[in-house]
Amino acid sequence: MGRVVVRVEGVSWSYDGVGGIRDVSLEIREGEVLGVIGPNGSGKTTLLRCLANLLKPHGAIYLDGRSLEGIRPRELAKTLSYIPSEYEGQPSLTVYDVVSAGRTPHMRGLWWESREDEEIVWESMRVMGVDGLAGRRVGELSSGERQKVRLARALAQRPRIILVDEPTSHLDPRNQIEIMEVLRLMALRGVSVVAVLHDLNLASAYSDRILVLKDGRAVACGKPSEILGESLLRDVFGIDVRILVDPELGRPIIIPLMDKELLGAGLKEYLDGVKELPRLKDTAHPGGTARQGKDNR
Ligand SMILES: Nc1ncnc2c1ncn2[C@@H]1O[C@H](COP(=O)(O)OP(=O)(O)O)[C@@H](O)[C@H]1O
Ligand SMILES: [Mg+2]
Repeated sequence: MGRVVVRVEGVSWSYDGVGGIRDVSLEIREGEVLGVIGPNGSGKTTLLRCLANLLKPHGAIYLDGRSLEGIRPRELAKTLSYIPSEYEGQPSLTVYDVVSAGRTPHMRGLWWESREDEEIVWESMRVMGVDGLAGRRVGELSSGERQKVRLARALAQRPRIILVDEPTSHLDPRNQIEIMEVLRLMALRGVSVVAVLHDLNLASAYSDRILVLKDGRAVACGKPSEILGESLLRDVFGIDVRILVDPELGRPIIIPLMDKELLGAGLKEYLDGVKELPRLKDTAHPGGTARQGKDNR
């Protein structure tokens, strides 16, 4: 694996004494996809905001061996791209405006894009398939289109590190895969990708390594096959799972189940007399034999 680009040492941040992250250490390597998983409120977004230098936590973060705090904002903006979970910009901006904002840290003059900047903007929109939307307002796009525009902006920025928060939430399966493929292709070109993911199967399929957060602490980090085990997922997420292994790739495939004992008190009450949560079988295939390439349209 590539050399270490970012080193996080004992980083803590709390919001007025509560929440946040506690004593997180990790390394981010060149050209890797680091998936970050953890329950709601476990500190994933806080960690990304620390990495993006938007929060000034206790502890230390080094980029190429230099303290993050000491790096000038413009230089950092050339190096690192942060994509929050929701679009936070003006909805009235056009797609072209949003994508070309990715060039701002590279521009020599204050306002003028060079011919090269313009070409990079168009190329980035083409890569994401949004060049046909260039004149549209981002507020009027579907969430899948808007997410591609935000990825195009990050592509135009040509960063070495990309931090992306829940990039596939609310997207249909094809858009989810397209977004993950773009991130992976960026990684193949040497970009370090840190992606907060809720979908454990996407995390399994696309991560070189997975970092697991729980209550603000990093509780595990490693390859998907080392991390995605029944006991860890039960401990961290409070779910029961069945795990298969992709026969070709060796990556875990997670089938979530629910154990009655893991339900919250209110839901347990709602269950009332039911002894066990029934397993929902597809009665057409009770034995669960794999159907290969057959569907019933
Ligand atoms: N702006 C904030 N003010 C106060 N507490 C916050 C704020 N943002 C997050 N927190 C708290 O910090 C913890 C981690 O939040 P966050 O990093 O957003 O988690 P995640 O992204 O994993 O859902 C949570 O307990 C959350 O309530
Ligand atoms: Mg979050």
